[in-house]
Amino acid sequence: EPLFTTHPDDHNPLSPIRPRKGVIIGAGQVGMACAYSLLIQNCFDELILQDINQEKAVGEVMDLVHGLSFIEPTQVTVGTVADVGRDADLVIITAGASQRPGETRLDLVGRNVEIFKKLIGDIAEYCPNAILLIVANPVDIMTYVSLKLSGFPSSRVIGSGTVLDTARFRYLLAEKLKLDPRSIHAYIIGEHGDSEVPVWSKVNVAGMKICDADWEGSPSYEHEELQDIFQQVKNAAYEIIQRKGYTSYAIGLGVTDIVTAILRDQNRIITVSRSVQGLYGLPELCVSLPVLVNRKGATKIINLSLTETEEKQLQNSCKVLYEIIEKLHL
Ligand code: LAC
Repeated sequence: EPLFTTHPDDHNPLSPIRPRKGVIIGAGQVGMACAYSLLIQNCFDELILQDINQEKAVGEVMDLVHGLSFIEPTQVTVGTVADVGRDADLVIITAGASQRPGETRLDLVGRNVEIFKKLIGDIAEYCPNAILLIVANPVDIMTYVSLKLSGFPSSRVIGSGTVLDTARFRYLLAEKLKLDPRSIHAYIIGEHGDSEVPVWSKVNVAGMKICDADWEGSPSYEHEELQDIFQQVKNAAYEIIQRKGYTSYAIGLGVTDIVTAILRDQNRIITVSRSVQGLYGLPELCVSLPVLVNRKGATKIINLSLTETEEKQLQNSCKVLYEIIEKLHL
């Protein structure tokens, strides 16, 4: 007895809904944290894992798909942008050298630019309409490198930027204020790194500012405690790397948040890294500012009104990044 009975009008084919396809390049700790989070939050219909270590990728995919009866289905396979990953909607690049204890993110530039020169050519050829989401560090530099090497429009080349720093900032402020981190509006902008900038003047709960305009002039206990929170944000990765060797879970969740804003066309404001031209007179660099994220990628940049201190800090951050970018001659 056949399992199904087919009806005479079963033959009228409706145009299939285009599956949401994503490729993760890099099956390391960050890549796998992204894959696991994207799977659980059901972001893609097809998710391809690409890694130079094929056997590792096969093992990781096996370990993921064995859990599929517990969650919404996603077709997870090993492959590349040139084969099963062709014409993907989103290509997430986590591949590259990662920070060793004591190393800054900027120390990774040379090693990762070489890796990207190989990767981006294939992506441009086989996924010409994809949105690139760069996670590899130094993420602002690697986003710029990807933009130049791919030739894609700037809205389609996005870096995870200070999404994670902003999340850390909100979490630590929420701990102090005994609130849900989602009830705190607070941004970290600039470099995803040592020169990042806390936008204290815009930190608010229900529109009520946490810091009044001239708070930085008043070295109160409050001021010390808040500055300590920012130091914890800025040094979080070093602290975690010192203890577990790498960071992974939170960046995986942050990447998933960006992917969701794109694939569901959510028009959300997220501090991703993207190209800006003419900021502080610098021709072009990629840096994190609050940006409108939707199906078209990282589209409009919010014109933040910053205090003099914040402006100086952001200008310094842009200068740090540009000094590296101009040496790349891309
Ligand atoms: C961190 C890595 C993602 O900040 O740079 O944890």
